[in-house]
Amino acid sequence: MANETITLLSSREVEKMRAAGQLAAELLDYLEPMVKPGVTTQELNDAAEKWTQQHGAKSAPLGYHGFPKSICTSVNEVVCHGIPSPRHVLKDGDIINIDVTPILDGYHGDTSRTFFVGTPSDKAKKLVEVTEECLHRAIAQVKPGARLGDIGAAIQEHAEAEGFSVVRDFVGHGVSTVFHTAPQVPHYGKWGKGKKLRKGMVFTIEPMINEGTWEAQVLEDGWTAITKDHKLSAQFEHTIAVTDDGVEILTQRHS
Ligand code: MF3
Ligand code: CO
Ligand code: CO
Repeated sequence: MANETITLLSSREVEKMRAAGQLAAELLDYLEPMVKPGVTTQELNDAAEKWTQQHGAKSAPLGYHGFPKSICTSVNEVVCHGIPSPRHVLKDGDIINIDVTPILDGYHGDTSRTFFVGTPSDKAKKLVEVTEECLHRAIAQVKPGARLGDIGAAIQEHAEAEGFSVVRDFVGHGVSTVFHTAPQVPHYGKWGKGKKLRKGMVFTIEPMINEGTWEAQVLEDGWTAITKDHKLSAQFEHTIAVTDDGVEILTQRHS
């Protein structure tokens, strides 16, 4: 996908992405109060699936390359693609990234946030705060004429200045009627390098920031990615559109 042409969306298509993005943001708002000690990740999955259906949408992850559930739930050392399970009970002090992607009218809204379960440790709190800041610093770079490398550089600079590391094995991606398409959006990089951004590009930025090593490994289930040193990992994701003079965050609620 790296060398494929990047599709530019029309304003009519961006409008559809906005509707899907707003639904995705609403879904996370709906799930947030359920994140408490004692709840299972399967319960979050089932609530998300039901809500998604009730809102006339479909869960993109379900059956995607064989992924077995409707959302990803990535707890503590899980970097991404955690699989909800009735055996996984959340406990006080956990951090959990919930990644949702409803498909509405054919278009994907892809967003994730990391939530605290009960009371976080100081280090967990710091990691999650810095990760969200990384996403927003990256978004602040987006405008026509800026480059993909500016996005990665903004994230890497902030994460590393705070003593954290940036996951390299998973990247942001173009998204529209297709879940994952060009461009690939690395969360590390060099200022001024990479493809130029143009109006109508729509892609995700989804930095995964680690407390220790940036290296990840995928478990036997073929999905769950964890940190090699089993230290914490956090992630935030938005779907954004490049506009005439800047950026629109499609998965940020307007309401
Ligand atoms: N939503 C994830 C992303 O941001 C992708 C999940 S794919 C799945 O790209 F198959 F694991 F669900
Ligand atoms: Co994504
Ligand atoms: Co996602």
